Amino acid sequence: NKTLTILGLESSCDDTAAAIVRVGPDGPEVLSSIVHGQTALHEDFGGVVPEIAARAHAEKLDTSVAAAMTEAGVGFGDLDAVAVTSGPGLIGGVLSGVMCAKGIAAGTGLPLIGVNHLAGHALTPRLTDGVAYPYLMLLVSGGHCQFLIVRGPEDFTRLGGTIDDAPGEAFDKVARLLGLVQPGGPAVEREAANGDAGRFRLPRPLLDRPGCDMSFSGLKTAVLRARDALVAEKGGLTRRDRADLCAGFQAAVVDVLAEKTRRAMALYCQENPAEPVIAVAGGVAANGAIRAELETVAAQFEARFLAPPLKLCTDNAAMIAYAGAELFALGRRDGMDLAARPRWPL
Ligand code: KG4
Ligand code: ZN
Repeated sequence: NKTLTILGLESSCDDTAAAIVRVGPDGPEVLSSIVHGQTALHEDFGGVVPEIAARAHAEKLDTSVAAAMTEAGVGFGDLDAVAVTSGPGLIGGVLSGVMCAKGIAAGTGLPLIGVNHLAGHALTPRLTDGVAYPYLMLLVSGGHCQFLIVRGPEDFTRLGGTIDDAPGEAFDKVARLLGLVQPGGPAVEREAANGDAGRFRLPRPLLDRPGCDMSFSGLKTAVLRARDALVAEKGGLTRRDRADLCAGFQAAVVDVLAEKTRRAMALYCQENPAEPVIAVAGGVAANGAIRAELETVAAQFEARFLAPPLKLCTDNAAMIAYAGAELFALGRRDGMDLAARPRWPL
């Protein structure tokens, strides 16, 4: 039960991140977590531009590593391994991170560990709350949406997920449709707080089908149609229209997530976990209405509901360092042939 000190790197989407996590007898501790967002760089393009992202990662990775080590007060000699997101994600960014980690490993002799980005998110409740396996995880972000039973750092059962857009993507697109600022999630949530969710009857896609799969792209299209109908009718949208559309949209997302969570919980609880836990991660887990509804669902199953602090819910390198520590403890080591994988399902 040796103490492990791990450097983590993350660069699979639009955040360049480095962190130091120490796992000792008293549990894990985040010694530093540096995140450089790229939102401003992509703002004018209506989405993340892979080439711009890769260049920005390449520029920021080494200084992020230096900052993470300085802030944690550790040198290379204090580290046990370097862990890096080796997929899935935008290949240019993932490659930048993997190259940086290989350079560090080659220069210092430290072991190298490739980490699945989704596993990083999925293990976060263990980093923040020491949750025992197996637990249920709902991963909801701008790029991902899936239910997982988490059994170990490399042992996941996927119960279902979105068949098209992720909910965060839908929030962002709806915000764009209604002329709200990006990222759309917080903007739509703010508008929804003053809206009437009952005015527009929006679809709850796939709710009538069995299983845990979800769909959000039709919902976004329904918002587009409702908007266009209002524009055709009276030439534009009022503040009230906007708020009501946001409220209707958010209520539909909440309903779908809640019902599918009930189904996922039923499957998970069949295994009789000693202390049932449902945890969320990903940027959409910041949404108050979604959190509140999931808490209600958890209570129905007498399960504990866990939402890590937002900084660890969204993309960061502490989760990669922590997942690296669990893998290291199991004996996982990667060589200089570690590949960057654009696709890598759990
Ligand atoms: O996990 P994240 O930071 O990045 C990845 O997608 O990997 O998630 C960002 C997503 C964005 O789509 C953003 O609109 C959404 O999370 N989001 C929210 C809220 N805050 C952020 N969605 C709904 N409600 C929110 N309050
Ligand atoms: Zn992520």
